[in-house]
Amino acid sequence: MSADSSATQESAVASSSTPPKLSLYGGTGTGRRVTVRDLAKAKREGEKWAMLTAYDALTAGVFDEAGIPVLLVGDSAGNNHLGYENTVPVTVDQLVMLSAAVVRGTKRAMVVGDLPFGSYQSSPSQALETAARFMKEAGCGAVKLEGGRRVLPQVDALVQAGVPVMAHIGLTPQSVNVLGGYRIAGRGDEEAEKLISDAKALQHAGAFAIVLELVPAELAARVSAELDVPTVGIGAGPGTDAQVLVWTDMAGLTPGGVPKFVKQYADMRALLGDAARSFASDVVHGVYPDESHSYH
Ligand code: KIV
Repeated sequence: MSADSSATQESAVASSSTPPKLSLYGGTGTGRRVTVRDLAKAKREGEKWAMLTAYDALTAGVFDEAGIPVLLVGDSAGNNHLGYENTVPVTVDQLVMLSAAVVRGTKRAMVVGDLPFGSYQSSPSQALETAARFMKEAGCGAVKLEGGRRVLPQVDALVQAGVPVMAHIGLTPQSVNVLGGYRIAGRGDEEAEKLISDAKALQHAGAFAIVLELVPAELAARVSAELDVPTVGIGAGPGTDAQVLVWTDMAGLTPGGVPKFVKQYADMRALLGDAARSFASDVVHGVYPDESHSYH
């Protein structure tokens, strides 16, 4: 553990009357990767954890060293890394390549590969073929897929074949064209009951964790209390077992506004812009390179 991460942990502990359990954090484990068993134990012991997206080896390495136990190579790479408008165009080849980089750049985090739109919906065997690529070619520890009851056969087939599955319900961005935009899911009794029943069915099919995206906080807390597997909230309030953010949102790199649920922990867009402007100015004014950056 670095001096910095130890200080961060101490301040987190000091600021709360009941100290949080931190066994998944800060590289204090055995030097091996986090497993589904570690996450199940965290749920039993009431330990909360953080997940971030990652799309390349260098930033993934930073998050790994910072003690983020689970990294998701999300299809949000579409809008946050590859320049698409949404996640729909992202391909398996693209995400397998990014996942392999994230695995290479990390030592301890569980790396979860996101099955992109069109790569698992048609059948359990299609899902298995795609998931096998993430496990064999990229070295992922698990995969994630979107959907409730409609993907139960896929979840079952993957788990039976030995692939840990993270499910994803609530707002499912791959369905943006059917939904007609991004809207809060699970509002009203009927939608809420459907979400709870989907979550229980996914747990029963063997999902080891369930992402709840853009769900009312009270509903997310209720689902989390009723499930034995951890819930991972994004825009789902404080009552879930874990929280995930898209890293470019979390670090302030995403252009334009971010949704209300995002907390920005840095202003990377300003930082990088300033660095690029200073470099360009030094070059234009002949300040860089100087003697100290030259060979003779
Ligand atoms: O693709 C992604 O980044 C996700 C998270 C928002 C959960 O699915």
